[in-house]
Amino acid sequence: MDILSQIDSQKVPKHVAVIMDGNGRWAKLRGKPRVFGHKNGVKSVREVIDAAGNAGVKTLTLYAFSTENWKRPKAEVKTLMALLLTSLKKEAKELNKNNIKLQIIGNQESLPKSVLKGLNKVIELTKNNDALTLTIALSYGSREEIVNAIKNISKKIVNNQLSIEEIDENIINNHLYTFTLPDVDLMIRTSGEKRISNFLLWQIAYAELHFTDVLWPDFTKNDFYNALLEYQNRERRFGKTGEQIETTNEI
Ligand code: FPP
Repeated sequence: MDILSQIDSQKVPKHVAVIMDGNGRWAKLRGKPRVFGHKNGVKSVREVIDAAGNAGVKTLTLYAFSTENWKRPKAEVKTLMALLLTSLKKEAKELNKNNIKLQIIGNQESLPKSVLKGLNKVIELTKNNDALTLTIALSYGSREEIVNAIKNISKKIVNNQLSIEEIDENIINNHLYTFTLPDVDLMIRTSGEKRISNFLLWQIAYAELHFTDVLWPDFTKNDFYNALLEYQNRERRFGKTGEQIETTNEI
């Protein structure tokens, strides 16, 4: 039986986030420069988008470039930016045909204007699609996102648009870059590292974490399906007891 058919369509995570890691090591193992790994990583991006669609995942968020990644060698940053832009432009029609909505999260001010302009065209083209929301985290850092949210909330308080008493989890949620997205149910990290690396810290409060040794350029649809299967076999309790969960049948 293939892996996809083993997935229970009633228990598919609504939001899957992926830390795509190991491109550099994958290239090094082959005696190639790091960017060779990034180029081969694009194929795995296509695989997970397809796999998410096939499995009925409605929200997929990929960590493509962190605020810390700006510290990498200039040539690598330049290649990564170009790769992101060309891949997403090349895939624009396909994304649209598959009813996929593209959006980006992160500090947009630090992105090269040409990259932002190109991405905005794809975002505009796909904005009314609703089969899958594909969010690319670009120049993203969770702490920066939280700082930005606090600044915007503070401005509203100073302008009397909001009172301190009104601040609750919903208000904070609504000021994050991810305000339109549900909480993350499943976070996947490839390459054997077991860290969160400043990705969606607020949003993963109750997420299941899946770590695999597979390096990102080797990651396939089946690896994604296996992560979903493992997720379905875990009991999510949200602080309740196992017995309480059995009676409410919550996932
Ligand atoms: C981590 O590997 C990967 C990245 C920083 C970049 C991910 C980007 C892509 C796969 C390019 C295309 C993306 C899209 C959305 C079209 P690493 O360089 O940190 O690897 P290492 O830990 O082995 O050094």
